[in-house]
Amino acid sequence: MKRTLVPGLLSLLIAAEVLAQGCPPPSNIPVGSCAPKSGIISNFTGDTGAMRVRKSIYRLSAAEVTELKLAFKKLRELPSSDPRTWLAQANVHCWYCAGDGTNVPDVHPNWAFLPWHRVYLYNLEKTLGKLVNNPNFALPYWDWNTGDSALCGTSHLKVPAPYMGGDATTNSLFDCYRNVSTSSTMDPARVGPARIATLLNNNNTFDLFFGTASTSSAVSPGPHGYVHLFVGNSTNINVAKQDMGVLETAARDPLFWAHHANIDRLWELWIAKYGTPTYPQAFKDQNWVFWNQNTVRTRMKASDATDRATRLKYRYDPPCPLILVNPNILAQVITLTPGPLTVRTAVVPSPESAEMEPPRETREFNINGDTGKNVVLHLEDVEVPADESAILRVYVNQPDATAESAAADDSVPGTGRLVEELFIVPAKTPGSGGHEGHGHKLHFKIALPPDIAAEVERAKGDVAVTIVPVSVSVLGGPESAPAAVNVRMKKPYISVD
Ligand code: C2O
Repeated sequence: MKRTLVPGLLSLLIAAEVLAQGCPPPSNIPVGSCAPKSGIISNFTGDTGAMRVRKSIYRLSAAEVTELKLAFKKLRELPSSDPRTWLAQANVHCWYCAGDGTNVPDVHPNWAFLPWHRVYLYNLEKTLGKLVNNPNFALPYWDWNTGDSALCGTSHLKVPAPYMGGDATTNSLFDCYRNVSTSSTMDPARVGPARIATLLNNNNTFDLFFGTASTSSAVSPGPHGYVHLFVGNSTNINVAKQDMGVLETAARDPLFWAHHANIDRLWELWIAKYGTPTYPQAFKDQNWVFWNQNTVRTRMKASDATDRATRLKYRYDPPCPLILVNPNILAQVITLTPGPLTVRTAVVPSPESAEMEPPRETREFNINGDTGKNVVLHLEDVEVPADESAILRVYVNQPDATAESAAADDSVPGTGRLVEELFIVPAKTPGSGGHEGHGHKLHFKIALPPDIAAEVERAKGDVAVTIVPVSVSVLGGPESAPAAVNVRMKKPYISVD
C-alpha cells in the first residue's frame, strides 16, 4: 500500500489494516465473575532462584526478543483448561479490578496498586520462564520516561518495535485492539523524564506516592493511566475500549506487562531518592491469591513485594548507558569531538541517579505555623460513569482554564498551575459502593508544587481550584471540551500534611 497520504487518511488506512487482521468484534469485555477461584491455597514461601534482571525493552538482544516472543506464544497456546493461560492471566487482573462485582476490593484506587501489580507480574514472569525452560527469564520494561539522547536513542515514546508488526498469529506480542501505529508518539510532558522527576519531587511522602487504604497512589492516575488510554483508547475516549483502555481486559495486551514493569521500577526510583520507607503494617498485611508457575493457587502478601530482592529475587538493569558527570568536574570545560567517547574515571556510570534530577526541594511553608509540610489538594468521591474514560486537568489559581486553553499548554503537570492531570482508566463493572451507572469512587491527594503552595499560603487558603474535563479523539490529537460532562465529586479542599 502506498504511504504518500495526508496524515488523516493514513490513520484511516491503518485502522482499516488493523480490522483486516482478523480481530474478533470487540464485544467480549467481561463483566461479572472473571477468574477461577477454586483450588487449595498455599502460602508463598519466597523465591529460591538466582536474581533475575529486568532490562529495558530497548536493550534486549535479538535472542532475548525471540525468547520473549516464544514465551508469550507458549502462554497463548496453553489449553484453556490451564489456569495460567494468557486469558486466565488477564482475568485475574479483571477479578482484582472488582470484576467479580462482589467483595474483592479493587486494587487500583488505593495503596494496593503498587504491591499488587508487583506480585502479579512476578507470577507471570515465573510462568513465562517455566514455559521457555529459563529460570532466569525476566520481563522487560518499557521505559517511556527515558529521555532522548545519543546513548539512549529516541524511540522511547513509541510502542516498542517487538510489540508491533505482524499480527496476532505471527507475533505473540501483537494485540489488534490497540489504537496506535508505529509512528504514534506519546506526549513527553505526560510521561517523559521531566514529568517523572516532578512526580517524584512532589510526592515525597509515603502516603502521596504509595497512596493510602482509601486514596490513590500518585502514579496511578498520572503516567500509568495516560499510557493505558494512549494505547487503548477508542476513537471516542469517553467510550471504554478493550484491551488496554479498560481494566477488565488490559492485561490481554502483552504490552501491559512491559508498561507495568516500568511502573514497578518507579517504586525503585522513589526509594533511590528518598530511601526505603517504613511500610505501615496494614500495608504489608494486604494479601492476594494468584496461580503460580506450577499451577498452585498461592497467597502472596504486600510484604513479599516490599522485600523484592530477597522474596521475589529480581532487580532492574539501568535503562541505557547513561553517564553522569562527576559534579567535581562540572566546572571544567569539556570539548567533545566527534568520534567514540572515551569514559575516564571522572565519569561514573550511575544511570538511576541521573534520572533523579532535579534534587528534592526543601519545603518551607508557614501555614498555621506548620513548616516543612506539604500543601495537599484533596479531590474526593470522584466518579465517572463505568463505561467512560476521563481526563481531568486540575488547576490552582487559573479560573479561566478551559479544554481549549489546555490544548495549547504543553507544560508538565505538577510544575505550575496545572497541578495534576488525571487519566482515569475505566472499569466497566460498577464498584459495590458506586451509584448505578457510575463507576468507582476515587480519592486523590495532589501535592502542590512549591511555588503554588507558597501562593496558597499567601492567599491564606483562598484559592481557585478548576477542574477541566478534556476529551480527545486520539491522545495527542486535537483536544476539546467533552460534549457531556459526567463527572461528579465532592468540593475540593486543601490541607497541610
Ligand atoms: Cu491493573 Cu495498569 O492496571
